[in-house]
Formats: sequence, C-alpha cells, structure tokens
Amino acid sequence: MAQLIDGKKISKEIKDELKEKVAAYKAQGKTAALAVIQVGEDPASSVYVNNKKKACEYIGIESLEFHLPEAITENELLVQIDKLNKDDKVNGILVQLPLPKHIDEEKVIQAISPQKDVDGFHPQSVGALTIGQKGFVSCTPAGIIELLKRSGIEIAGKECVVIGRSNIVGKPMALLLLRENGTVTIAHSKTADLRQVTKRADILVVAVGKPKMIDSSYVKEGAVVIDVGIHRNAENKLCGDVDFDDVVEHVSAITPVPGGVGPMTIAMLMHNCVSTMA
Ligand code: GUN
Repeated sequence: MAQLIDGKKISKEIKDELKEKVAAYKAQGKTAALAVIQVGEDPASSVYVNNKKKACEYIGIESLEFHLPEAITENELLVQIDKLNKDDKVNGILVQLPLPKHIDEEKVIQAISPQKDVDGFHPQSVGALTIGQKGFVSCTPAGIIELLKRSGIEIAGKECVVIGRSNIVGKPMALLLLRENGTVTIAHSKTADLRQVTKRADILVVAVGKPKMIDSSYVKEGAVVIDVGIHRNAENKLCGDVDFDDVVEHVSAITPVPGGVGPMTIAMLMHNCVSTMA
C-alpha cells in the first residue's frame, strides 16, 4: 500500500507550531503584519487571498488587505508597494498573481523590498537560493521539502526528477532538492523522451499543468510522487497532473489532490511571515 502524504494534516501541524511561536514573540512585544495586494476580481485569486487572510488570523498575525481596482495603473500599484516597503509596521508584502495584462508582473515583483518578499519571487531571493545564501524561498517548493521531511522520506542521494521549469515551482524546486543533496534533473515540454527520464526518479515532482498527464507508464515502481497540479475535471471534481488511481498501486508514497501540496503553500507563506519576527 502506498503511503498517502497528508498535506492537510502536515500544514495544520506547521500552522500550530507557528501559532505558538507568534504567541511567544508577542509576549516579547514583537508583532507582524502581512500586506496582501489583489488587483481586480479574478475569482481564484479572491479564494487564495481569503485563505491567506484566514491563515494569518489563525496563527495570530495581522493581515492588511489592499483590494485595488482592475483599472489601476502600473505606476499607482508601484507607488502603493513603495509605501508598504517604507512602512515599519509591515513585515511582508504579497502581490497576488496573475496581474491584469496592462501591468508588468516582473516590474511589480522587483519593486517589493527583498526584506519583505515573503513569496520569494524577487530576483534577489531567487539568487540567494541559487548560491545557498539566506533569503525567502518560494512557498510551494519549500512546502514540498517539508512534506518529504515530515513524511520520513530521505532526499540525499536520491534521483529526483522535476517536470516543469517555472520560476515559481520547477526551478526553485530543483534548487531545493539539490540543497538537500538529491541528484536532480529538470524535465520539461521539450524533453526528448520524458518517460525515459521520469522512470529514473526515486522522487518525481510533477508540475506540468495538464490534468492526469502522468500515468504509471512514467513512474518507476516504488517511487515517491508529488503532484503540484490542481484542475477541475468535466464532472467538476478536483484532480492533479498525475492520474492518481493509475499510479497509486505502483508507488511507495504519493500526495493526493486535493489535500497534498496545496495546503502547504499557505503554511510556508506563514512560515516566511513568522521568520521576519525573529
Ligand atoms: N498566484 C498563484 N499562486 C501564487 C502564489 O503563491 N503567490 C502569489 N503572490 N500569487 C499566486
């Protein structure tokens, strides 16, 4: 039987640990506030922002919501970020993505002070991760490392394959697995023989963005499979990038969708926020 990696349970453990830490910091007179900026009315973004607000409330840090109109100019948004950069009460700044088409995401991310970049998206944060210096780490890949560690899965010396090369998941994931002494390969849409690569993996992280693309023909017997995808299928049910029912009999451990990687992203965002209180 495959081990089900329970992201819901592990994220709750992390949030409970953080809640205790925050209480201890508060007893020393230290507080924290996370500024969350949403531009426009994207329904998925509204759900994420609301979940982030609830997580802040749960662990005991303040969340400051800035819900800005879709028509805001790039410059107005940059001015708002600059104000928050300079506000000593604000420890973390998060701009919910995606942004409307007329706003340059890269410019916005670069405007956030690296000291407040709790998403870990700023080039300085990414650079620090690359060369092994301290800095904020992107929350989804950081959450996956926590899932593996807290499930007793050894990374050092393992063949790790990451499918996907995004700046938010694939690339930082590969760097984190490398930091844990894994032997890391990044595969992507142009990889010549994807199955031949993924079949090598002891730990396979799938972030392709295609529902149920990875079936058992891509997976080595006994591998650990981490599914980053989340999609709604024709019956309105959630599914991942991995065909769970087909793969589950062949693996030693696997994350479900929902309840696997998803809840870890917010837990690690909270971790990043609390780290600013030290
Ligand atoms: N949109 C989808 N995922 C994320 C995330 O982790 N952070 C931000 N800021 N926006 C997102």
